[in-house]
Amino acid sequence: MTLLITNIKELLQVRDHHITIVKGDDMKVLPILKNAYLLIEHDTIVEFGHMDNCKDIEANEVIDATGKIVLPAWCDSHTHLVYAGDRTQEFVDRINGLSYEDIANRGGGILNSAEQLQNTSEDELYKQASKRLTEVIKLGTGAIEIKSGYGLTVEAELKMLRVVKQLKHEFPIIVKSTLLAAHAIPKEFKDNKKGFIDLVVNEMIPAVAKEHLAEYIDVFCEKGYFDLEDTARVLEAGKAHRLIPKIHVNQFNAFGGVALGVDYNALSVDHLEELNPEDILALQKSETMPVALPSCSYFLSIPYTPGREIIDAGLPLALATDYNPGSTPSGNMNFVVSTACIKMKLTPEEAINAATINGAYAMGISKLYGSICRGKKANLIITKAIPSYYHLPYAFGDNFIDTVIINGQKF
Ligand code: NIG
Ligand code: FE
Repeated sequence: MTLLITNIKELLQVRDHHITIVKGDDMKVLPILKNAYLLIEHDTIVEFGHMDNCKDIEANEVIDATGKIVLPAWCDSHTHLVYAGDRTQEFVDRINGLSYEDIANRGGGILNSAEQLQNTSEDELYKQASKRLTEVIKLGTGAIEIKSGYGLTVEAELKMLRVVKQLKHEFPIIVKSTLLAAHAIPKEFKDNKKGFIDLVVNEMIPAVAKEHLAEYIDVFCEKGYFDLEDTARVLEAGKAHRLIPKIHVNQFNAFGGVALGVDYNALSVDHLEELNPEDILALQKSETMPVALPSCSYFLSIPYTPGREIIDAGLPLALATDYNPGSTPSGNMNFVVSTACIKMKLTPEEAINAATINGAYAMGISKLYGSICRGKKANLIITKAIPSYYHLPYAFGDNFIDTVIINGQKF
């Protein structure tokens, strides 16, 4: 089966050489081929070039992309897409003056979602999650990471990750799974945090590893949640079960979590709304991807990750949604890219690099995803006719997507 896309106005993120990450000043470069064609065989990109060289190419199906832009599908490396119900009441409570912290302190927040999830069957949870996943793929997401962390008991964490496993089987896109058992301290452990960490380390991690339900281990390293010592214990136990760290750090407070993540060879450190010079230094000596989640800053009205500072320090940066019921009830990567440009002062080129190739890196899949290269998987967005790729971030409220192609097939 071959698919040929012709008359592409601009083919973005097109590279003759395979790349797996872009850093610093290189992020300003987004290679583009104008008036291009792209040839796909089964699920793989096999050729691309100028339309002048397309004349003799035959294919089973042809898509005429006159006036349209083609780019790699978004790679969303940080979500909590499996959850039960919603937290709309807390949203209204925040409008009326309570803070995210106030809500958590009165037993809401993550614990509210945990209670709802514990009372929801695996089938119902799958139904809700698959609806969300279908929607985000239609919005251009071609690879996604999904975390547990609203279970907070052995049984409910396994239930969440089994739902993720089912999504992996039923959907054509790559789904990566992360055990985020240390997401909040359950009510029963209110005065016994050590007891909960013991449960995570001695029961949850081994149970999840036994069923091969996760590739990554995450911790909410934050004041009032899990400190450096707790985080180290969980990452150590994860490492013993071959789980790679991808952690929540510096959302509200910076106290050394980034350096700790780097010490444990974290694939990514995510949030970073609060960042100090030591964090930058730690990242400069690492292979760890910093990940910004601008929709979370937007929704909670908290500072934006200093993406400009991160890139100007020569570092890479990835963008992800953080899709979850409490801090970011949106899985829209188009909005993330726009918001990164508008609020974090990333250029469109930097934001698109961050949401494609660097997002793929933060999921360990950038050898096969995140750029238009021969041999890479054909996960693509074909836009509607738009004047230029600047319109992607510029027209921030529009849906510019015409077609999403996953593994060489229209979704
Ligand atoms: O990444 N910060 C921790 N976890 C999620 C939100 C959790 C929630 O409020 O449900 C986040 O923002
Ligand atoms: Fe998150």
